[in-house]
Amino acid sequence: MISGFHRLSIEARRRLLNRDDFGESDMISLGGEVCEETAQLDLMSENVVGALRLPMGILTGLVVNGVEHIVPMATEEPSVVAAVNRTARLMNAAGGIKTEVMEPVTTAQIMLVIDRKDAQPLCNCILADSGEWLDVANRCDDTLISLGGGAFDLDAAILPSDSEWAETFVVARIHVHTLDAMGANIVNTMAEAVMREMIKKYRADAAFASLEPGMAILTNASPGRMVSASVRMDFDCLATVCGMDGESFARRIARSSAFASRSAERAITHNKGILNGIIAAALAFGQDTRALGIAAMDYASRDGHKPLACWTIDNGALCGTLRLPIVAGFVGGSKSCPQYRAAYKLAGIDSYNGLCSVLAGVGLAQNLGALWALSTEGIQAGHMKLHRRKAEEDHSAQKPL
Ligand code: MEV
Repeated sequence: MISGFHRLSIEARRRLLNRDDFGESDMISLGGEVCEETAQLDLMSENVVGALRLPMGILTGLVVNGVEHIVPMATEEPSVVAAVNRTARLMNAAGGIKTEVMEPVTTAQIMLVIDRKDAQPLCNCILADSGEWLDVANRCDDTLISLGGGAFDLDAAILPSDSEWAETFVVARIHVHTLDAMGANIVNTMAEAVMREMIKKYRADAAFASLEPGMAILTNASPGRMVSASVRMDFDCLATVCGMDGESFARRIARSSAFASRSAERAITHNKGILNGIIAAALAFGQDTRALGIAAMDYASRDGHKPLACWTIDNGALCGTLRLPIVAGFVGGSKSCPQYRAAYKLAGIDSYNGLCSVLAGVGLAQNLGALWALSTEGIQAGHMKLHRRKAEEDHSAQKPL
């Protein structure tokens, strides 16, 4: 290991990685040239030597809640951006996508360890003192409170545990309105402060002498951040864009959607396609795509794996609905980075609601794109065209694949 690497400048770190078989040009291939933005990125992570480059494609227009957005999408997968552009044309012609965004709530778990016999009394005390714990949490962030957010509810429960263990876990949860923020930092700060104060208060009581702190951390299960997107496209309108009779097109899409409802194996792939779009756009906006992905998968897999988007036929129209938690933040985090600010500017997104609406809209459009290809010419036709183009270029430039 190289010790002290984190204390060096970006340039010095890069120099240190230089060796006989890894020169300056390899460093540039790995992390790009050093520029002003690299210094910005140094503030966002550790041991930074450069930036990962991904193709940034553009969805050239998607109408969401009556406003057309140009959406940057960062992905290495061929045909994701082409597919979403194709379906956006269809959806826009029908008036676009409508969304509903829930006021976002993030929940943290505070896990305390205590002798089994003392667990119920502790749980009762925590619940009786819940106002005090919400105050402790809310003292951690004046800004959030002044804007109308903050911790608003607390519950507590004893987790079932192995009978040979003398100790068990009492878990208190605080629920926090995070407004425009994703809220990970603030909610974790609140949870740690509450755990500290709980230990201080309850350990002073001889009845809780065995009490120990376990951990305090938000849960990435995010049922408090639900977003839905829907679209309705008349058969006549479909026919003008999709190049076939609107009703047969709609039947193919509805049938493909029913396949995902009946087969969990298919639902997983169906949902992967939705995340192809949402994660590509979320990456371009500097979002925590791991939190976003795991929350969506958690929601989809409660009661067996179900499709996040469904398509049905209703009275001469194809109707699509997507529903999932979207873990995103419009303030804080990576927003200070010029690249992400430029993404928001290009997309014309100026609020948390706008961000979640566009991400959900992209997900729904991406799903229709996949089902359109799968139920007509197959996915490989488009995919392979792009792969072939790349292979030809690689070949003509005589680059190793
Ligand atoms: C490929 O990355 C995504 C698809 O498999 C999605 C789907 O099958 O719905 C095409």
